Amino acid sequence: MSRIHEALKKAEQERAATQGGAVQPNFATTPVAEPPVFAENPSEEGATASPATARPGMPAFASPFNTDTLLARCAQLEWKPPDPTTMLFLNGDDGARGTEEFRTLRSRLYHLREKMPLKKLLITSAEPKEGKSFTSSNLAQVMVRQHGRRALLIDADLRNPRLDTMLGTTSDPGLSDYLLGKNDEFSIMQRGPLENLFFIASGTKAADPAELVGNGRLKLLLQRVEPLFDWIIIDSPPAVWFSDASVLAKACDGVLMVVKSNSTPFEKARKARQEFPDQTLVGVVLNGTREEALPYDRYYYESYQKKPTTAKA
Ligand SMILES: Nc1ncnc2c1ncn2[C@@H]1O[C@H](COP(=O)(O)OP(=O)(O)OP(=O)(O)O)[C@@H](O)[C@H]1O
Ligand SMILES: [Mg+2]
Repeated sequence: MSRIHEALKKAEQERAATQGGAVQPNFATTPVAEPPVFAENPSEEGATASPATARPGMPAFASPFNTDTLLARCAQLEWKPPDPTTMLFLNGDDGARGTEEFRTLRSRLYHLREKMPLKKLLITSAEPKEGKSFTSSNLAQVMVRQHGRRALLIDADLRNPRLDTMLGTTSDPGLSDYLLGKNDEFSIMQRGPLENLFFIASGTKAADPAELVGNGRLKLLLQRVEPLFDWIIIDSPPAVWFSDASVLAKACDGVLMVVKSNSTPFEKARKARQEFPDQTLVGVVLNGTREEALPYDRYYYESYQKKPTTAKA
């Protein structure tokens, strides 16, 4: 069985073990992405590559735009997250709880990218409220914590968009307005306090989200802006409930599935997994793990971190 299957099974076992007991929600997020754990990726550390730099195995699209256009045309807004504790990298505290898990996830994605083209990443889950938007926004944030890396975060959950609220910014114009042909790429893009993090909100409320995300303009959008970014992280609705995620996945290089610890039923997770062909499901994030379930080295890292002389990872 694959590691993804093992991760789903583990989530199910944790749920069974604690059934009837009160499980405290927490901020720990355990990334369980394929391939298996590697040492820290040297090509990721201290990265200074330009986002527009072509990489081996990456498709090279000609973009009609350059960085100057992006910076000149994209709105600079003040983001005010209502709950800054869940936007882990926006308040400048790189040692906050949960940040290390996102760095590990980033590292694994970079390792994976050495083996396959991987830039446009869809984040989904089986059911609502499993942490898709939490994972997408924090993953995009951790990507740009590395010098010179640029990321675009897109809220493609046109049914229940949340990223604009989480980030504390405006929701329109956004993706739906572009898909309807009302706006161009840069008039729907915004940036906030983090240098190199760009955001496309969901946009004006759409009548038929499934039709809209499948109308072909999303692919066009991605193709046009892709050369300007190192990563494009796309948030989506729950995969078991709606077809949107599987439609969106066709425009992406890979899918990352969020499974909520002690909550996602195994069968639901398996059903969601079947929505995506094997080659596009790149991993699973086990979200909201209990602290005592974290591996020993995580504890070690935390106590080590408390010493004043410790350098950050
Ligand atoms: N690991 C975590 N630690 C702390 N808060 C979390 C964590 N995961 C999710 N949350 C919080 O739980 C709530 C639901 O998460 P989120 O909105 O990310 O779920 P979702 O899967 O995107 O839901 P929906 O299907 O409605 O879009 C949010 O308020 C989010 O900030
Ligand atoms: Mg969401």
